[in-house]
Amino acid sequence: MAKSAALPLLLTFFLFSQVNIAISNPAAGAAPQPINILAILQKAGRFSTFIRLLNQTQLASQINNHVNANSYGGLTVFAATDTAFRNLPAGTLNGLTTQELVQLVLYHIVPRFYTIKTLATTRSPVRTQATGRGGRILVLYFSGKANQKQVNVSTGVVRTTIYKPLTTRSPLAVYQLDKVLWTSQFGLSKEF
Ligand SMILES: *[C@@H]1O[C@H](CO)[C@@H](O)[C@H](O)[C@H]1NC(C)=O
Ligand SMILES: *[C@@H]1O[C@H](CO)[C@@H](O)[C@H](O)[C@H]1NC(C)=O
Repeated sequence: MAKSAALPLLLTFFLFSQVNIAISNPAAGAAPQPINILAILQKAGRFSTFIRLLNQTQLASQINNHVNANSYGGLTVFAATDTAFRNLPAGTLNGLTTQELVQLVLYHIVPRFYTIKTLATTRSPVRTQATGRGGRILVLYFSGKANQKQVNVSTGVVRTTIYKPLTTRSPLAVYQLDKVLWTSQFGLSKEF
């Protein structure tokens, strides 16, 4: 007797919980917790300059809108640490126009979700979100081995290793970078 009552009860519970989800989450199918790039970086610490730039250029909200809209392909963000920004020659950021600052941040964003493994095996050059003079799309070069937990990235001027993921939950991957990514596009031509 107890056994036969269990199934309808379970079904009722199941139906109720479905309805409950539909009511509490009007954007059915979307992630229940919206992704917030600034919250991810704040939680990790050591990214206050990158956070300030993302916020000031409005790119933080564009990233959030993009990854929360079930966007095909996703995004990968390479977040340079405060130490990386401190290691730039004094006055570098202040010497950039607003437009150059936006492009600098966009140069740290690739319009696809990458794990370390897919980065290691992707075909370079990889297009970033940044465009340079004459509308040229700025690229990055990745090299690595599929069985390793790190990948090297090069701009042609700056080289560094990507080894520390802050999140790799599709559709957004965020990795720590110990150097700011530059090209001669941004007025500097040597590695530091
Ligand atoms: C982003 O900028 C706004 C307005 O300038 C400011 O109120 C807010 O505190 C900033 N947020 C972060 C995380 O820096
Ligand atoms: C990555 O860079 C490091 C340091 O420059 C180097 O030792 C390593 O061989 C590189 N790995 C790959 C896969 O290019």
